[in-house]
Amino acid sequence: MASATGICDTQTMRDKVDIHRFTELTPTPSLLAGIDAVFFAASNTQNFASDAARAVFRERWLGRYLEHDPQFAYLAIAPGGEVAGYLVGSVSVPARASRFADIGYFQTFRDLTTLYPAHLHVNLAGPYRGHGLGGALIERFIADARQTGTPGVHVVTSRAARNVAFYARAGFVEAGAIGEGAAEIVFLARRI
Ligand SMILES: CC(C)(COP(=O)(O)OP(=O)(O)OC[C@H]1O[C@@H](n2cnc3c(N)ncnc32)[C@H](O)[C@@H]1OP(=O)(O)O)[C@@H](O)C(=O)NCCC(=O)NCCS
Repeated sequence: MASATGICDTQTMRDKVDIHRFTELTPTPSLLAGIDAVFFAASNTQNFASDAARAVFRERWLGRYLEHDPQFAYLAIAPGGEVAGYLVGSVSVPARASRFADIGYFQTFRDLTTLYPAHLHVNLAGPYRGHGLGGALIERFIADARQTGTPGVHVVTSRAARNVAFYARAGFVEAGAIGEGAAEIVFLARRI
């Protein structure tokens, strides 16, 4: 329903899109393809040297989470079954987990990852952004992470990224930073 303020539209979108645990859904090829579509469309990297490079990239930021931590994966599903977005995460201390040894910033932020072990990656398809679904996915993850006793959660993003404001509204504060200029990345953290 259209509205002058847009508030009603946002409420309608949030009502229409359901959040499911990945483990409660049947991982059909079409569901997995929908997750991949959101992942690659939202990625900062759009061109890959080869199919193998593309597969490595997917494994790094998405695949390993679905395989190793499926209980911390959530899907936002639109009424027609379309994947509107997803969140994947982990509560392991990443600087100590061998499956994350290829991600250098976990070693750089090693001490912070002990204080805020849980971490997440969240992406929405373009039409579903700006309606609060990202925040809803984060709250689902944090509610489950809290049950494990983990003391905190973090995300790592670029200081210049638009999503920094989104994380601030979700209760994340800057706890560390490395790099300079366009290459600067920030460690944003929230106690659980
Ligand atoms: C970041 C994201 C998960 C937020 O979810 P959301 O439901 O759209 O967030 P909300 O409706 O609660 O808040 C809107 C905020 O989301 C962020 N956002 C919206 N569209 C965005 C986009 N195209 N790119 C980056 N961030 C975006 C902004 O911070 C926006 O606030 P602003 O309008 O004041 O700049 C979602 O917008 C998205 O998937 N963006 C693109 C991919 C991304 O940045 N993922 C996070 C990687 S660390």
